[in-house]
Amino acid sequence: MSYNITQIATDKKQYLELLLLADEQESMIDRYLERGEMFALEDNGIKAICVVTDEGNGVCELKNIAVTPDSQRKGYGKRLINYLISHYSDRYTQMIVGTGEVPSAIKFYQSCNFEYSHRIKNFFIDNYNHLMIEEGIVLKDMFYLKRMIPKA
Ligand SMILES: CC(C)(COP(=O)(O)OP(=O)(O)OC[C@H]1O[C@@H](n2cnc3c(N)ncnc32)[C@H](O)[C@@H]1OP(=O)(O)O)[C@@H](O)C(=O)NCCC(=O)NCCS
Repeated sequence: MSYNITQIATDKKQYLELLLLADEQESMIDRYLERGEMFALEDNGIKAICVVTDEGNGVCELKNIAVTPDSQRKGYGKRLINYLISHYSDRYTQMIVGTGEVPSAIKFYQSCNFEYSHRIKNFFIDNYNHLMIEEGIVLKDMFYLKRMIPKA
């Protein structure tokens, strides 16, 4: 498979449709989109995007990762994460990611070598303007996972 990952520095909103797949409220995306670094994976068209922010103390946070619906489960998400881990090996020591407690998302991150870190109680209830329901689950706490970033 030949694919290409590039950083997107301008007009990040052109990928709003994809960003909304992972985070359905635009006002929440606006909280991290500008300060975050965006990457896009291309393989005969854009297949996946992600946004990473600097959280200080050597920690970066994967704020958004989305793969186009007809290209999911083909390894693009995992490839993008592995790219980020090597891309950031000089700059960060740990990557964290927060998600609702949805089994498929947690399985994906675990398969990408993330492990449980901590949770933020009632994050989805307190920060979103409507009830968030994914795969039949009402999202309540933000569930954080972490992965160490080895030095290059
Ligand atoms: C979650 C997401 C980013 C995963 O990317 P992907 O390219 O589809 O996943 P990959 O093909 O790289 O999956 C790697 C492994 O993760 C696990 N995995 C991925 N999606 C899964 C699912 N829906 N259910 C269970 N396990 C899953 C599997 O172990 C998979 O390996 P396998 O296919 O060989 O079994 C993508 O499906 C997506 O964009 N979903 C919608 C948006 C979203 O929910 N984003 C953020 C989650 S908080």
